[in-house]
Amino acid sequence: MQAAVYVVSIDPQASTVWWANRITDLPFDFSQEHESPEHLAVLKDTGAKVVVIANQKGGVGKTTVTLNLGAVVADILKVSGRLRYVFIDTPGSLQDENLLLEALRYAHEVILPMPPEPLAFDPTGRTITKLIEPTGLPYRVLLNNWDPRDGMTDLEQTREYIAAQGWPILESVVRRYKVHTRASAEGKVVTQYEDNLPYCKARQDFYRLAAELGYCGDC
Ligand SMILES: Nc1ncnc2c1ncn2[C@@H]1O[C@H](COP(=O)(O)OP(=O)(O)OP(=O)(O)O)[C@@H](O)[C@H]1O
Ligand SMILES: [Mg+2]
Repeated sequence: MQAAVYVVSIDPQASTVWWANRITDLPFDFSQEHESPEHLAVLKDTGAKVVVIANQKGGVGKTTVTLNLGAVVADILKVSGRLRYVFIDTPGSLQDENLLLEALRYAHEVILPMPPEPLAFDPTGRTITKLIEPTGLPYRVLLNNWDPRDGMTDLEQTREYIAAQGWPILESVVRRYKVHTRASAEGKVVTQYEDNLPYCKARQDFYRLAAELGYCGDC
């Protein structure tokens, strides 16, 4: 049976494959394609929605968002009989810009994870103005790794900055939870987290995100 979700990484750093290989019962199809990104061209004919997760700033949560959003969408769609969504994890460096440009050729939409920190503003802006906007693709910034214990100030100031730039932004925020940081070593994605409170809250952020994005089948 064809999985509804396919996750692909074109990051030569290969942390996605390291994580994916540790997961038992991977809820989606997965492959690593940085050596042959042109393989992504086949995606054009699948009828699936291709979503690129991008930000040339390293460590903003691209891999975390790609794998967990992929898992949640796979869980929502269950067995669909055909490929519905492709999530492409991309490199967080200027050196690998060509790989990101290749992925954008096959994309329908781009999500840019970004922490609510001023150090992320310029690299995110560069990614948007130099690479994403020239493609004409729809894109949205996703605030990731916000720690509610720090209060609202960083979040509000980052939202104000993003609004001033005129970048589209998702309402959903992915909060910082230690469980996300540990999940790669434990070989888990959010749908496989335990059922206690912090894990539920961490998981909820991704279901809310999938719903806001409209990646929930025919709902
Ligand atoms: N919401 C979150 N809560 C807790 N930890 C997070 C969260 N998002 C990301 N992290 C942690 O931050 C680190 C960087 O995340 P990740 O590897 O997903 O970023 P990346 O953008 O893919 O990095 P790179 O550019 O190197 O590929 C990881 O240790 C990850 O576990
Ligand atoms: Mg990564």
